[in-house]
Amino acid sequence: MMQHDFDELIDRKGTDCKKWDTYKDDVMPLWIADTDFKCPQPVIDAMLERVQHGVYGYPMNVKTFEQSIVNWQKKRFNWDVEVDWVEYTPAVIPAIVYAMRAFTNPGDNIVIQMPAYHPFHDIIPNNGRHILGNQLIRKDDGSYAIDFENLEELLSKKRTTMFLLCSPHNPVGKCFTREELSRISELCLKHNVFVVSDEIHSDIIYKGNRHIPFGSLSQAAADNCVVCVNPSKTFNIAGVRTGAVVIPNRHNHDRFYAPLEDNKAYGRTIFGTLPIEVAYNECDYYADQMLEYLEGNLAYLKKFVAERIPQIKIGNPQATYLIWLDCRELQLSPKELHAFFLEKAKVAMNEGSTFGPGGAGFMRMNIACPRSRLEEALTRIEAAVNS
Ligand SMILES: Cc1ncc(COP(=O)(O)O)c(C=O)c1O
Repeated sequence: MMQHDFDELIDRKGTDCKKWDTYKDDVMPLWIADTDFKCPQPVIDAMLERVQHGVYGYPMNVKTFEQSIVNWQKKRFNWDVEVDWVEYTPAVIPAIVYAMRAFTNPGDNIVIQMPAYHPFHDIIPNNGRHILGNQLIRKDDGSYAIDFENLEELLSKKRTTMFLLCSPHNPVGKCFTREELSRISELCLKHNVFVVSDEIHSDIIYKGNRHIPFGSLSQAAADNCVVCVNPSKTFNIAGVRTGAVVIPNRHNHDRFYAPLEDNKAYGRTIFGTLPIEVAYNECDYYADQMLEYLEGNLAYLKKFVAERIPQIKIGNPQATYLIWLDCRELQLSPKELHAFFLEKAKVAMNEGSTFGPGGAGFMRMNIACPRSRLEEALTRIEAAVNS
């Protein structure tokens, strides 16, 4: 089997790279959600071959892109998706916006779970809809539970028409259980609330947990959802700007897709679809090896912090390479916390309050990097905390 070297140090500076080119040279960037790993060799080879062809005219849609998503959902999550349920989208965030416009009206309420991935805070009001926040409850072991009573209260409000689920959850790293997802589905059906499930992080699930696609829960759940996927996190191809939706119900599919078709807003790119097809069809080995590597990084982080920076708590990460650090013991305001890590420790992370209620006092660390970089960042943080 092909082996990928996740220890390889790749210089990303000067490549118009948001993660590395935003901050000064002496800062270790562990913030925005892409990895520092080279993408799988079969993807690179296929792209090179296509580049060498030299003609990049209009592609024909022969459904190989859709089929690769069907294949991946079956192999990895045992979900039987049909090719006709899948549509190409330019990325996940645009897909969520399309769904919001198709299934809700201006002035409606959309429920999200707080703290929430920061663009959710923008796209909902930017489209004239209101955010209702269902606060996730932090337990003593650092894992998170759903406040179902509050959730039902929000879902039952007259103008609540959509629940935007982030499964698994960024930034708290929660992997939802089948029981939790089923209960969410039942409540949404009871109150006639449509579900958009953002499953972009679904390949990075730590041992003892399992990702369940929302649309695989039951026929009723499938008939009431749009599932958003993108291999960009797993295979480090966010820059090709591609994603997909899976919409099992034909009526919902048409409602989502008609405005795109009417506006001819469905064009795809050959360099967007090709890497996804190759990654999903040929690169299971890479996803498996990266997960193993990330398990190693997580174990390293947990040990380092427990032994050398006990003021910071790791909690109980179940999914994603974005680790939610509890820094409340440092007793710094969000602004001070951000400045402390960036200016004193020289490590760039996402400051927790930017994710909304429940985020103050936390920092989000991206551990998808070679271990030597993680080690360097933690050593810097240790020195800053001790000084
Ligand atoms: C939960 C979540 N959704 C969506 C995105 C962005 O996806 P895309 O680049 O496909 O719009 C991210 C990126 O970090 C994310 O964490």
